Amino acid sequence: MADNPQVAVPEKPASQPKPLMEKLVSLAKQRGFIYQSSEIYGGIQGVYDFGPLGVALRNNIKRAWWRNMVELRDDVVGIDAGILMNPKVWVASGHVQNFTDPLVECKKCHQRFRADQVNGPRHETDGGEFTEARQFNLMFKTFMGPAEDSSTQIYLRPETAQGIFVNFANILNSTHMRPPFGIAQIGKAFRNEITPGNSIFRLREFEQMELEYFVPPADEMKWLEYWKEQRLNFYLALGIRRDRLRLRAHAKDELAHYARGAFDVEYQFPFGWSELEGIAARGDYDLTAHQQASGKDLTYFDDLIRERYVPHVVEPSAGVDRTMLTLMIDAYHEEQVRDEQRVVLRFHPSIAPVQVAILPLSRKEPLLATAQRVEHELRPHFRTEYDDTQSIGKRYRRQDEIGTPFAVTIDFETGNDQAATIRSRDEMSQVRVPLADLRQALEERLR
Ligand code: GAP
Repeated sequence: MADNPQVAVPEKPASQPKPLMEKLVSLAKQRGFIYQSSEIYGGIQGVYDFGPLGVALRNNIKRAWWRNMVELRDDVVGIDAGILMNPKVWVASGHVQNFTDPLVECKKCHQRFRADQVNGPRHETDGGEFTEARQFNLMFKTFMGPAEDSSTQIYLRPETAQGIFVNFANILNSTHMRPPFGIAQIGKAFRNEITPGNSIFRLREFEQMELEYFVPPADEMKWLEYWKEQRLNFYLALGIRRDRLRLRAHAKDELAHYARGAFDVEYQFPFGWSELEGIAARGDYDLTAHQQASGKDLTYFDDLIRERYVPHVVEPSAGVDRTMLTLMIDAYHEEQVRDEQRVVLRFHPSIAPVQVAILPLSRKEPLLATAQRVEHELRPHFRTEYDDTQSIGKRYRRQDEIGTPFAVTIDFETGNDQAATIRSRDEMSQVRVPLADLRQALEERLR
């Protein structure tokens, strides 16, 4: 079952004022982070496109996750499985049967809602009576090949996890990995959510970062504890405020059809505490199901203890989109500077789309050539942006709004003293640094 939206009900008032989401959505569009999909045709619900800064931020998130979960570990390998899979996968995994949400329809306006999100038996807006709830499967269906009948019907994957389970034997046979070990994957997933919303929080097309960690059965709960701490620390390392993050254990009646225990990493969104990532103990549910359905051996023989077993799985499953939204909300600050209001995204330097902006004070030579040379020198070492448009004040404002930690200003003195000014986004301080020392000075500040 999809993550539980009931947790989106605010438990305590959010610390940010209500219109924050609106302000953020407008900033995200204006500055090129998030656009509505197919906007010129009126959009399409539950799908968003990502502009130049959005894609940069997402790449930084995915890179941080991959570095942390795969490259810096010796017990995890990566894969990249297809979005389209043999439909038998989804029968065996239980998704055809169980990946449903209860749906009700207003008999008057025929709008459809999740049964657990409506108050009472009638539609609040028009008083129409709701139908009995029926189970609605969230998987998108399509057809493979030229014929369109039930024999060619396939699904767009609703999670990346199954691409990992069906490759379990391939990984065992082609690598030296032995439990406890993990297989990681980043990729798109699709769910026909009944009520997408809250910008990119609940989407119909989204991106997951999932790890399936295979362990000896007796160690499952130990690894669940381990991964919940690891994953919380991941978000802290991205600079997210500690007081807005929490771990919440799932109650028994909340558990997904495959889970034996689960925690959510939750963030205090403006619309309440909600799931950012799910960490579940999936037992041997998936491997056993695929073994039975495919007839292929998905056990592991441990030759140290001379025992054969189906490994159990602990799964930290994160969303790129929700991480992006969380980072943007958490970074968003409004400040009064003298008589002006400043909007600033205080991104951690490791994920900021632009780390260093290079800004000539004027478009005149020799400032222009010097600034371009400086940018070319810094570009291999940082994510840089050169900007010579508009007034310097407007350019600083833009860089604050896109979360650039440092700007290097090339001014009329630069020709004389061979130095430039480094402006800090957070302290709003300005220090003069020789051009020859810029790289080192920035490295120290960004570290
Ligand atoms: N394989 C387990 C699984 O898919 P899930 O809790 O349904 O578990 C994991 O999803 C994560 O994927 C969520 O914590 C969230 O970050 C992201 N996610 C799930 N559904 C989403 C949606 N409709 N829109 C955006 N992100 C979603």
